[in-house]
Amino acid sequence: MKNIVVLSGAGISAESGIRTFRDMGGLWEEYDVMEVASPQAWESNPDLVMRFYNDRRKQLKEVKPNRAHKALAELEKHFNVKIVTQNVDNLHERAGSTDILHLHGELTKSRSQIDSSLIYNIEGWELKFGDKCELGSQLRPHIVWFGEEVPELDNAIPIMNKADILIIVGTSLNVYPAAGLVNYIPDNCKVFVVDPNSVAGNLNSRCEFITKNAGEGLPELAERLINNFNNE
Ligand code: APR
Repeated sequence: MKNIVVLSGAGISAESGIRTFRDMGGLWEEYDVMEVASPQAWESNPDLVMRFYNDRRKQLKEVKPNRAHKALAELEKHFNVKIVTQNVDNLHERAGSTDILHLHGELTKSRSQIDSSLIYNIEGWELKFGDKCELGSQLRPHIVWFGEEVPELDNAIPIMNKADILIIVGTSLNVYPAAGLVNYIPDNCKVFVVDPNSVAGNLNSRCEFITKNAGEGLPELAERLINNFNNE
């Protein structure tokens, strides 16, 4: 089976009702991202950061995967599909995809402040002050904040290296190192970009741009791939 790698971003979840980052003039759900998504913010205003992520988690319970997430799950019947997502939501999982690497963390998890390998599921939607890891330190959202390392990058590169087909969907490719992953695909990899707007990044002429919303463009692309590519 051919290897399809999907690099997804906020746009794939837009039609589920979760806002993207860069279409709101730098605001994310009414907040300046640096006020809620940085280690400095956690240091200077932990209440706000905690409340912000609790709200995102609560919102996650109210939204559902859309046609785009489902189309990717469906592709697993025909291809070896690996999803590398920048999203912290769990909509790929809930749509049925089984192989997902979260580059920027996961909303539904918390982690220790003193040992980043200690990661826990958050039951319900609320993380609280006083929730501690087994070493006794306050738990923080399991999110890669601006300025922090992206530990999963090392696991994402070998996935990119083996792609026969890369689908880039719903990401502006503005944020590094995630955006740089497109440089790790083999020379003969076919690349599709599904996004209603133009994206940054040095995507070359091998790329086919599908300028549609993910909910429309991805099911169409999936059908095309199933009909044309899986027996080659
Ligand atoms: N379908 C497909 N794409 C869409 C849709 C849609 N319905 N609506 C918007 N988009 C596209 C936008 O055109 C844009 O190119 O989704 C992209 C969203 O880009 P960003 O908001 O920059 O999100 P993303 O690329 O995922 O951001 C990367 O930045 O803030 C950090 O850590 C955060 O993971 C995030 C990272």
